[in-house]
Amino acid sequence: MDSEKISFIQKNAEQAIAEARDLTALEQIRIEFLGKKGQLTACLKQLGNLPPDQRPTVGQIINNTKQAISAQIDQKKALLEHDAENERIAADTIDVTLPSRSRHIGSHHPVTLTLQRIQRLLGSAGFEIAEGPEIETDHYNFNALNIPESHPARAMHDTFYLEDGHLLRTHTSPVQIHVMQEQTPPFRVLAPGKVYRCDSDLTHTPMFHQVEGFAVDTEISFAHLKGLIESFLKAFFEQEDLPIRFRPSYFPFTEPSAEVDIGCVICQGEGCRVCSKTGWLEVLGCGLIHPNVFANVGIDDEKFSGYAFGMGVQRLAMLRYQINDLRLFFENDLRFLNQFKGQIH
Ligand code: FA5
Ligand code: MG
Repeated sequence: MDSEKISFIQKNAEQAIAEARDLTALEQIRIEFLGKKGQLTACLKQLGNLPPDQRPTVGQIINNTKQAISAQIDQKKALLEHDAENERIAADTIDVTLPSRSRHIGSHHPVTLTLQRIQRLLGSAGFEIAEGPEIETDHYNFNALNIPESHPARAMHDTFYLEDGHLLRTHTSPVQIHVMQEQTPPFRVLAPGKVYRCDSDLTHTPMFHQVEGFAVDTEISFAHLKGLIESFLKAFFEQEDLPIRFRPSYFPFTEPSAEVDIGCVICQGEGCRVCSKTGWLEVLGCGLIHPNVFANVGIDDEKFSGYAFGMGVQRLAMLRYQINDLRLFFENDLRFLNQFKGQIH
């Protein structure tokens, strides 16, 4: 063993380090040359075989070589780590030029749009919103509205009764009673909400929405009601010459009473299956609040008068959006609902 052999080992080590492609290969090289069983450690072990005067010099050379190789390995290690880091970053790179994933944009349900539209138009006429319960008592849904037990109008309502004697309200009119009991006139109130009837065909569903409107003040007449309904319907359908007719009718809680029809917007009055070939579609019921109703809530009918109306929201929505089957509102078919994207009330 001499300095030539050591410099040969060093050259081999340097070449191996230069060629190392990754950290594992580099670690192999460190073990191979500097490890306990490595080539330079073997040299150190052979020092004893040399003549004593040469040992310090050769020992010094071996140690310097060890340090030099160790330094080179450290340098290469830093380089490889840096490369690995760059590779990781490169693999992680986000391509900001890729098109973004499109987001699903929902839409308001046509019934919601119609409710909002009714509330906006009548809200601007000074009506305030009130709510009442969907589970009602006989008293609020019928008795207080001048529909006593034996009254034939009860049969027309196809009521869902609950086991405990309560019922699902068949119209929004009971909200009139709640409000009139709690507030003192004058007031103008709008009561939107769900109502239930045991009824199902092309123009009737077991659950539907109504908006009740009523006003109580000292000088309210049928002319106020007629004027309000006409301007509301014309604004709602954005049609100044909309055919509207007030047809004498009967509700136990109003007197006189009327039902309001508009010219069928599906067939323009020609007669189709939506309007049962009549050319007209009923959109609401209305009238002047009956003295018996005032008596039931303790309002003096000598001093106050009032009007009330109740309209079918689905029916108004059908006419506005030209939908020919009421059941489409409840099927949640996206092909139907997507057509209302971007619509505002
Ligand atoms: C009433 O419910 C009265 N409470 C309305 C009223 C209020 C009259 C205040 C006077 C004063 P009617 O049962 O006609 O009336 O229903 C009112 C409206 O609800 C109808 O004009 C119609 O547009 C709608 N409607 C009635 N039944 C259904 C149903 N099954 N499905 C969808 N809409 C319906
Ligand atoms: Mg009716």
